Amino acid sequence: MKDLHNKKAIITGAAQGLGLAMAEGLCEYGVKVCILDISSNLNQVVEELRKKDYKVEGLHADLSDQKQMTNVFNQAIEWLDNELDILVNNAGIHKPMPAIDLKVEDFQRILDVNVTAVFQLCRLAAQEMRKKGKGKIINIASVLATQGGFNASAYSTSKGAVAQLTKSLSNEWAKEGINVNAIAPGYYNTELNRFILEDEERFASLVSRIPAGRFGNPEELAGAVQFLSSNKSDYINGAIIPVDGGFLGR
Ligand SMILES: NC(=O)c1ccc[n+]([C@@H]2O[C@H](COP(=O)([O-])OP(=O)(O)OC[C@H]3O[C@@H](n4cnc5c(N)ncnc54)[C@H](O)[C@@H]3O)[C@@H](O)[C@H]2O)c1
Repeated sequence: MKDLHNKKAIITGAAQGLGLAMAEGLCEYGVKVCILDISSNLNQVVEELRKKDYKVEGLHADLSDQKQMTNVFNQAIEWLDNELDILVNNAGIHKPMPAIDLKVEDFQRILDVNVTAVFQLCRLAAQEMRKKGKGKIINIASVLATQGGFNASAYSTSKGAVAQLTKSLSNEWAKEGINVNAIAPGYYNTELNRFILEDEERFASLVSRIPAGRFGNPEELAGAVQFLSSNKSDYINGAIIPVDGGFLGR
């Protein structure tokens, strides 16, 4: 994947967790990476990455706010020397609770961050990628794109939408050299899953359904994003690739 060297990427939600591991995975190959994230830890994370000699910038934004998103996207493009090769839509939120108790405002916010922001960033990115006749868009879905999950009404709705959006945009843009694909992570050791990791019974029950017999570590997602960002995946379009320790195969 030597072609990744000096490519220009935007990745959302990479101040921690899966996004950070994927950002590092791209940096390792010499990709210039701009992170968009709401987190107050973003500057510190960027500093740490720069210590490894990675070419990284971090821009603060709440991606549920269309105006902020467009502004930081434009700033990111400027920092990337007005070029964009790779977009990774990773930022995502979850509010695990029974549907009956979930407020409509919370449902809406989950859709705003997990779906509407993805749609809008894909469109902004495609406009840049069209200029080059080439580009890679990678959306982070979930195994809950195909399963309903438990106490996950808004989240599974949003991830199902990410998968469908990925296929739909791929159908429109594949001919233009823009690959739109998604990764469907299984269960990983991240903050998003703290509520499971802290619930012994639920954790054991989930692990028993994962053929690999464990949750994934964020670094284990890097390979998929490196591959989907490189020219080795030029004929992969509209795919939803599980990286889930075999969870979906059961
Ligand atoms: N962890 C898992 O097991 C798992 C499984 C399947 C899918 N996913 C998906 O992978 C992605 C990353 O998950 P994670 O486990 O690393 O989560 P995480 O909670 O550890 O990190 C999410 C990141 O997104 C950022 N973010 C949240 N809301 C934002 C907003 N409004 N604007 C900008 N940034 C925002 C956060 O600051 C954080 O840095 C999510 O889309 C999630 O749905 C995770």
